[in-house]
Parts: sequence; C-alpha cells; structure tokens
Amino acid sequence: MNYRHAFHAGNYADVFKHTLLVRLLQALQQKEKGFLYLDTHAGRGIYDLAVSPAPAGRSRPPEWPGGIGRLWAAADLPPPLADYVALVRACNEHAGSGRGRLRFYPGSPWFAAHVRRPQDRLALWERQPEEARALQAGFARRRRVTVECGDGYGALRAQLPPPERRALVLIDPPFEEKGEFTAVLGALREGLRRFPGGVYAVWYPVTERTQADAFHAAWRTLAPPPTLWTELAVTADPQVRMKGCGLLVINPPWGFADELQPLLPVLAGKLGLDAGATARCGWLVPET
Ligand SMILES: C[S@@+](CC[C@H](N)C(=O)[O-])C[C@H]1O[C@@H](n2cnc3c(N)ncnc32)[C@H](O)[C@@H]1O
Repeated sequence: MNYRHAFHAGNYADVFKHTLLVRLLQALQQKEKGFLYLDTHAGRGIYDLAVSPAPAGRSRPPEWPGGIGRLWAAADLPPPLADYVALVRACNEHAGSGRGRLRFYPGSPWFAAHVRRPQDRLALWERQPEEARALQAGFARRRRVTVECGDGYGALRAQLPPPERRALVLIDPPFEEKGEFTAVLGALREGLRRFPGGVYAVWYPVTERTQADAFHAAWRTLAPPPTLWTELAVTADPQVRMKGCGLLVINPPWGFADELQPLLPVLAGKLGLDAGATARCGWLVPET
C-alpha cells in the first residue's frame, strides 16, 4: 500500500470534500443530541505542505496550489467556502504558521475535531501504521476521540449502530487498489444493515465516466435510502487522468441539496482548469 495522502493534501478534491464535510457536520449539529463521527479512512489528520512527501531524489509538483491555494487569499467566497477557508486558517494558526501564511493543511479528522461539540464523539480509523501513529499523537488524548489502526471497512461493523443513535460516516478510500468501489458497496451494505438511519458520505474519483456511472447503478440496485450525488469536474481534457471527483451522501440532512445548488458553480469557477469545468448534483435515490 503506497498511498500517502500528503501527496494530495489540499488539492481540489480535498477542498470539495472538506467544504461539504463541514456543512454536513454543521447540519447534524442542528439537533442538540450528540452524534458519532466515524472516519473510516482518516489519514494523518494534518499535513505540512512545506515538507515534500516525495522520496529523496524524486520530485513531484504539489497539488495544493490547484486547490486551497486558489481560495486562500480570495475575498469573494460564499459562506460555506468562507467558513471552510476560515477553518484552514485556524489550523495554520494552531500549528504555528506565522503571518497568515498557508503552510499546513488539515485532514478530515482535524475538521471534525474542531467543529465538534462536547457531546459529539469521533472514531478515527486508519490502516497505514505511520499515518495512524501521527493521528494518535495528534488526536487520541482528546476527550471522546478514539483512534484505531486497522481496516476502516471493518469499522462499520465495529462501531455501528452507535449508542447515540445518530452518526455521520465518512468513507474516503484511496481508490488505488482494484475493487475499491466493490469494497465500498459491501461496507455500505453492512453499515446500512446495522444502522439504516445514519448519514453516510462516500468520496469517489471520476477518472472514467463509465466507472462512476457503474458505481451509481450498482448503488441503486441495493434499494438504498435517499441518496444525493454531487460531482465536481475540473476539466474534460482526456489527457488528465482524474478529471473530477464526487460525493454520495446517503440520508442527507434536510435542506442539504438546496444548499449545494449555489455553491457548486463557485467551486467549479474557482477550481476549474479550463472551460470544461462543471459541478452538479442530483438525487440517485430521491427523497419520498
Ligand atoms: C484519501 S486518504 C484519507 C484522507 C482523509 N479522509 C482526509 O480527508 O483528510 C485515504 C487514507 O486511507 C488509508 N487507508 C487505505 N486503505 C485503508 C483501509 N482499508 N482502512 C483504513 N484506512 C485505509 C490510507 O493510508 C490513507 O491515509
């Protein structure tokens, strides 16, 4: 398993995913009762953009300039994006980056840990031992946070249903191994069997349109609960491998779809590489 999220931290896919993640966390906080945030593929929690993650002697251009780099100094952002950038700024201040400089990029556990309330609980799973150790060092001493070094797909069996009877589950695999879409579907089936009322957010890459369509079609055959899909394409250029990415949101909080509508063109405008950039959303399984 060679995947290291540090190569990608802060890229357009992270901006898209983390902006929506923060909105989902805030939506669940509309109710007083606490909830479980389960992050099945958590990564290390915070990334130092000044440290090249490439092995010695090899260089690789960083991806963050095409993501958070495009928003960091923007003055014209609508509230969800402005909130997200404010959190990235807070992360930089906490981590000691001086004079408003962008040096650190927070991962999904960091966002969840910083917007959560005392009654909310975090369960963070990461399979890569080095990443899990960093996660443990940064987060495990906090109250109501657990870190597990293990298979995040198994986390759905271990953690659901939660005693709180409320949960947001983020499934964010690297999609480097063949069969990851199948593994996601299996994990979701198990999660929904154990806890049908949970909110599940699943990130996926759009490299081939047919693959994303097949994933959507396979999901529909499982007779799932209401499911929203949203995708950002930064280009339609066939030379670019990962042209975009998407998020399935199962049992989305009330009003979430309406909130996305005005945000999506801004994301496409800020993060697009060319005129082929688009962002869309729709119901895979409509609300009844
Ligand atoms: C896309 S990154 C996660 C990024 C993180 N969720 C964020 O938004 O900041 C995927 C992570 O999953 C880890 N991973 C890969 N396979 C896993 C598995 N089966 N269970 C748990 N973690 C896994 C990788 O080591 C990597 O850190």
